[in-house]
Amino acid sequence: MATTTKKKQQEKEVVLQTREEFQSALLNLFTDEIKDIYWAEKHLTQALPKMENAATSDGLKEAFANHLKQTLLHVERLEQVFELLGEKVQARKCDAMEGLVQEGESIIEDTAKGTATRDVGLIIAAQKVEHYEIAAYGSLTQLAKTIGREDIAVILGKTLSEEKETDALLTAIAEDTVNYNATAE
Ligand SMILES: [Fe+2]
Ligand SMILES: [Fe+2]
Repeated sequence: MATTTKKKQQEKEVVLQTREEFQSALLNLFTDEIKDIYWAEKHLTQALPKMENAATSDGLKEAFANHLKQTLLHVERLEQVFELLGEKVQARKCDAMEGLVQEGESIIEDTAKGTATRDVGLIIAAQKVEHYEIAAYGSLTQLAKTIGREDIAVILGKTLSEEKETDALLTAIAEDTVNYNATAE
């Protein structure tokens, strides 16, 4: 009983950091997260052509092709962020993005080529990716402001807007796909 109470007290203990320690720890955290999303974006540049190839409708193929162009720009923007941070460009494996891309590959395996069902599945997989990116860029844009890097926040905010636009476009394509297929039947 006494041990449990002591353990609980220890868990509650907050390590007090000086303002400087906190600022430098936040900057390290921010840099690590940039390395993470950098890996994720680079990984996507390999996945998107496969998704474009697997898609059925021209609209979805075009959406994937356009988002590949944007994603290459997202990679470049992150390289700019590394430069602004005075850090060398470095990727840190993002397990979440690896998993999300694998889900997309499973959809391709599990659905028939040339079907609307495959497109709906691909859109679900792609929207999960966009939501991950929106979460990452949303947090990082905020954190950049917190650490006093408004210049970096502006760059990350541009990418954030493009991820949100892509998500909305995918929703619209999903609605069209489902409606078109319902009419065709
Ligand atoms: Fe992106
Ligand atoms: Fe994206």
